[in-house]
Amino acid sequence: MDIRSLKLAYFSPTGTTAAVVEAMAEGLGYDVIEDVDITMPEERQEPLEASAEDLLVIAVPVYGGRVPFLLEPWLRTLELDGTPVVCVVVYGNRAFEDALIELSDIVTERGGVVLGGAAFVGEHSFSNDEYPVAVARPDADDLRGAGDFGRRMREAVDALSSIDAASRPDIPGDRPYKERKPRGPVDFIQVGDECVLCGVCAEQCPVGAIDEEDLKHTDPDKCIMCCACIKVCPEHARSAKPGSPVEGFAKWLNENCAERKEPAYFL
Ligand SMILES: Cc1cc2nc3c(=O)[nH]c(=O)nc-3n(C[C@H](O)[C@H](O)[C@H](O)COP(=O)(O)O)c2cc1C
Repeated sequence: MDIRSLKLAYFSPTGTTAAVVEAMAEGLGYDVIEDVDITMPEERQEPLEASAEDLLVIAVPVYGGRVPFLLEPWLRTLELDGTPVVCVVVYGNRAFEDALIELSDIVTERGGVVLGGAAFVGEHSFSNDEYPVAVARPDADDLRGAGDFGRRMREAVDALSSIDAASRPDIPGDRPYKERKPRGPVDFIQVGDECVLCGVCAEQCPVGAIDEEDLKHTDPDKCIMCCACIKVCPEHARSAKPGSPVEGFAKWLNENCAERKEPAYFL
């Protein structure tokens, strides 16, 4: 099957999903690449259209075993038309549960044809020096795996006579999907005296929760706990408040999810 362009759509507050997608794109080896980084709110204003001559890679982090709730409205505006799609989720070494099947179902409902899926491991958003979880993942082995997966997907696409001839991958997960926990205001960020008010945190917040006029205040109603502001702070001034649920999760993950998990591929 001839592909005109590769479209890479991804949400990646702390950069692990983006790293996996970049390695996959190298393996896929197409010349024309459209980068659709939907991490920032402005980028989620426009719907993504893709035709049967495009190959779409769509990648999201796993939040609570599901596709991040925040992305549902954008995903439901995807305009696909027999578009071949590879679905990717990146999770923090706990579990990806129903995220990949949910992403695959949405893509199919929106007119895409899922040719393959993968679940990679990324450093957990809640990981910190005291409670490290999957630190520095994806590492070199993961990225090599992502490149190889891209190459295998390319071979599979090249070998297809038409999209109708594609066999559907067996994507794991349950329906109905894991229930989402009711979400109240999230107030877990503390800002230390190291803060120099540089504003990098506000620039990188994917939901505009940090007030540019009052950088030490994070809006609890907007915050999605992605921890981008903590990880991006050049002064290491931001952290999870001691005793907050995020600090508690980090401790639990550090104690219970230390054993390395490997990427999983579904073709
Ligand atoms: C709110 C929230 C919920 C998460 N839920 C899960 C989960 O259910 N399972 C898991 O293994 N990791 C979970 N993670 C970790 C992320 O999936 C993981 O760190 C991912 O690599 C982050 O992607 P990014 O670097 O592209 O932002 C969660 C992270 C956040 C912020």
